[in-house]
Amino acid sequence: KGCICCHFDHVLQDYYGKILSQTSDLKSNACVPSAKPIPTYIRKALAEVHPDVTARYYGCGLVVPECLEGCRLLDLGCGSGRDCYMLSQLVGENGHITGVDMTENQLEVARKFIDYHMQKFGFKKPNVNFVQGYIEALREAGLEEKSYDVVISNCVLNLSPDKASVLQEAYHVLKDGGELYFSDIYSNARISESLRANKVLWGECLSGALWWEDFLRLAAEVGFSVPRLVTASIVSVGNEELQRLLGDYKFVSATYRLFKLPKNWEKKRCLVMYDGNITGSEEKLEFDAQYTFKVNEVMEVDGDVASILKNSRFSEEFTFHSQASTACCAKPKVMPVNPFELVEQLGSSDVLSSTGGCCGPQESCCM
Ligand SMILES: C[S@@+](CC[C@H](N)C(=O)[O-])C[C@H]1O[C@@H](n2cnc3c(N)ncnc32)[C@H](O)[C@@H]1O
Repeated sequence: KGCICCHFDHVLQDYYGKILSQTSDLKSNACVPSAKPIPTYIRKALAEVHPDVTARYYGCGLVVPECLEGCRLLDLGCGSGRDCYMLSQLVGENGHITGVDMTENQLEVARKFIDYHMQKFGFKKPNVNFVQGYIEALREAGLEEKSYDVVISNCVLNLSPDKASVLQEAYHVLKDGGELYFSDIYSNARISESLRANKVLWGECLSGALWWEDFLRLAAEVGFSVPRLVTASIVSVGNEELQRLLGDYKFVSATYRLFKLPKNWEKKRCLVMYDGNITGSEEKLEFDAQYTFKVNEVMEVDGDVASILKNSRFSEEFTFHSQASTACCAKPKVMPVNPFELVEQLGSSDVLSSTGGCCGPQESCCM
């Protein structure tokens, strides 16, 4: 690792390992709860997580992709492990989740409660483990290539000084057809070098945020499918001094899903029908902001989505029809790829102000 990384290591490990000991210690409202209501099965899983783990949750979204039973998951920057313990219930005893984080103090909290959770979930052997390492160097941390079905992350990419490496490593450790599903903070323009050098703004998940257009470019360079925008909420900084420093920059918390798909697959529009067999999505599958698949309804999908559905773990959950007639099928909504536009489109009622502090009582968040 180069010296810029070492510099950020120390700053961030102090920040997350020593300076912050609970979510209310955060100085800004960079993290906001998810804009979507939390489904009951996820609420139940969250309620099972030990309060000492939840108290150190610093995420900025809800990272629960569907169709997880039996899957192998990896959480980049798992912190005290809240998302790992929530998802360990959803992958079940035949699945597994590994959390990786560079900060030992965070991992100590996570590891302390492995037995507690396994007993609570009734699992004979642990389906969770925690590894100390850098998300820019997953293979150096001992994580194997092509070994995960899904990689998740919650409010961490913005903290990395080398975001291209994080995306590349995630791509390498994913199996073919695997998915990167993550929530993070994005800016409306590329952040200036002087703000990027500000340690508090960086540690608070703001000045390290990617300009959303840079994110789309990086994802394409790494080889991922075009990112599917799931949801977005505006971030109100909630701290006058930090806001003054940030000037006109605006921030959103957004959740994207990206897939590792075959490169030479001919992308063709097609008709699909969701079978309704995914736990928690028995009536409809809300795949992203554009596509909601209702059970037994024929829907037309574009070539990108057709490729995702046919080449991922979702392939067994759909019936694929020939393109003979599109006359009597449902059409997707037109949705923006720009998360700032999505926030506007969702309307003010869905835009969550973070006033009152991040990590409020109902769904805690980052900083
Ligand atoms: C904002 S917190 C989010 C933690 C966790 N995802 C959650 O939702 O509670 C960021 C976490 O990422 C870790 N982190 C930041 N940069 C990292 C890096 N380059 N490699 C590994 N972990 C990193 C920090 O140690 C911290 O635990």
